[in-house]
Amino acid sequence: MTSTKPQRVAFRTFGCRLNQYDSEAMRTLLEGDESYETAAPGEVADVYVVNTCSVTARADASARKAIRRLRKEHPEAKLVVAGCYAQRAPKEIAQLAGVSLVLGTPDRANIVEEITAAKGEAPRIAVSPVEMESEFLNVPVTDMLGHTRAVVKVQDGCNQACSYCIIPQTRGHSVSREPQQVIEQVAGLVSGGYPEVVISGVHVGDYGLDLANSDWDLPRLLRALLAVPGLERLRLSSIEPASINHELIDLMASDRRFARHFHIPLQSGSDSVLERMGRRYRAADFSELVARIAATIPDCGIGSDLICGFPGETEDDFEQTLERLRAAPLSYLHAFPYSVRPGSPAEAFGDRVPGDIKKQRVRMAKRLVSEKNEHFRRAQVGQRMRVLFERVKGKDYSAGWSDNYLRVELPGEAGLSGMKEVKITGLSVSGLTATIC
Ligand code: F3S
Repeated sequence: MTSTKPQRVAFRTFGCRLNQYDSEAMRTLLEGDESYETAAPGEVADVYVVNTCSVTARADASARKAIRRLRKEHPEAKLVVAGCYAQRAPKEIAQLAGVSLVLGTPDRANIVEEITAAKGEAPRIAVSPVEMESEFLNVPVTDMLGHTRAVVKVQDGCNQACSYCIIPQTRGHSVSREPQQVIEQVAGLVSGGYPEVVISGVHVGDYGLDLANSDWDLPRLLRALLAVPGLERLRLSSIEPASINHELIDLMASDRRFARHFHIPLQSGSDSVLERMGRRYRAADFSELVARIAATIPDCGIGSDLICGFPGETEDDFEQTLERLRAAPLSYLHAFPYSVRPGSPAEAFGDRVPGDIKKQRVRMAKRLVSEKNEHFRRAQVGQRMRVLFERVKGKDYSAGWSDNYLRVELPGEAGLSGMKEVKITGLSVSGLTATIC
């Protein structure tokens, strides 16, 4: 007898906020078909979708580990592998035991049909050339399971071709979402109970450039979103230095619902390294920009990314990077050892930096910025701020995030949720402590 019960689907998501959003979009498409439903948290599923990242060799390894574990724990389930690693190396993934379907980024739109068609012993590979992703996939996502903040993707892909990066090969060229679709989605999420929305894209500063007959750009979109009734906080995710202009900084400074937080990748403080990376700014541009932001927006959280040990990075190059970091008003840093990405232009670069030196440089950069982070946190003590509390299970404290991207804990106050005004009382291990005002 054939069962007509819907198949339960669970997701394992790796990588950046874009992948978080993409998982919700794929989940929404599956929910829209009567053959599938979302598995409850912790429930055994019939289909597992692993949404992978491929930003480093380590990201690939994490995805493979998750696939192997799911295969071991749920040998009967269909195993679907999507995301950037799936697009970059579909054959490699198809060779892993138990994989039923490898789904490319342009093929996410057909996830229902592809999962249904993946029946045989041999894995199905549904990976179209990335150039096929010519339009933004508009899915009416109305919730972000397990998240307090809603991520909304407004742009995908990238036209820049930095030499270390594989994202143009996994997500194609830049495509923007129609402004009306973004506004409707944000309005829906806000009325569904999300006080904060995070606007993201691979190259969010390119928003609007590809929209025909349109003068929409990122500041105009953000202004329109700030007009959505009930929105309590709007946050911008990572943005390239060259995309931040006076208009954007002034907008953040002028509306307290626009979170005082910029994440601006520096990658290297040496111009010769930046040039070989194919970055379109110089180290002095970054320094001038972050100084301008700090001068215009008091207590703005400014974070950055750094790649240590790019091919040819000398001691002198790295010292220049440390100098830039020392002078910059940063509140946090994500530093990574350079990891060669198969198919990226830098794969062919010689003069590789040994692994132990890369790791040592990562440690030095992180140590330097962790001192800045402590200084930044100390400057918040005594201030009042609005914190969006997240559900913390089984603890005797509540915790959430300030607009300037600091984790705030309320000791002895379990179970808080939503946006609350607090007074900062001191420092926790990596964030702040506070009391309710
Ligand atoms: Fe990873 Fe792809 Fe995001 S490589 S960081 S999931 S764009």
